[in-house]
Amino acid sequence: MDTTPALDDIGACVFDAYGTLFDVTAAAAQCRDDLGDKAGPLAVLWRTKQLEYTWLRSLMDEYVDFRQVTGDGLDYAMATLGIGGDVRARLMDLYMRLDAYGEVKDVLGGLKAAGIKTAILSNGAPAMLEAAVKNAGIDDLLDDVLSVDAIGVYKPHPRVYQLAVDGLGLAAGRICFMSSNAWDVSGAANFGFRVVWVNRFGQQRERLPGAHEHEISTLAELPALLGL
Ligand code: LAC
Repeated sequence: MDTTPALDDIGACVFDAYGTLFDVTAAAAQCRDDLGDKAGPLAVLWRTKQLEYTWLRSLMDEYVDFRQVTGDGLDYAMATLGIGGDVRARLMDLYMRLDAYGEVKDVLGGLKAAGIKTAILSNGAPAMLEAAVKNAGIDDLLDDVLSVDAIGVYKPHPRVYQLAVDGLGLAAGRICFMSSNAWDVSGAANFGFRVVWVNRFGQQRERLPGAHEHEISTLAELPALLGL
């Protein structure tokens, strides 16, 4: 029987942060008392504008960090939905300590126990990532937390993915990258990572260059792909 795992010769598992490890809808959901039935639409529009601003600012060569972009996206979304400013500070504060998805801690622990390096590679500003990681109690389970802030351009620019190659000292082909964001999946695969799409939201694949190797619905399915 062939016991070669689906993903073999992997030296490190690198994770996208927002939407993959941390639930980006958690902040609006926790303000449902203030937002009422606008909580859902706010979460969606906030995320959409936040991401659009990362892409647009990268094209404009006008980098500001992800906290600023997140605040700008929130302002746009609140104005569009007619939400008053009182809840803004609470939403931004909650965004700094978003819930991690339920399986994250166990999966990271299993990878570490198997001797596989683990890291985050994210658009998030270092202080945001540090707060989220600490809040989730996963600081001891990560070898590295890499932020685009080091280079001043956002995903899916290839220089972002190169940060993981340089930071971990591993060839791209030995890095297994996980993201729930289909466009990030394309960018990472096109760069040369071995990519697993964590399709938490049942999205369609993007019509972009770069093909993922595997699709799973939560990270709980990752260890089996690595033969763990
Ligand atoms: C990140 C965004 C793309 O964490 O979710 O990089």
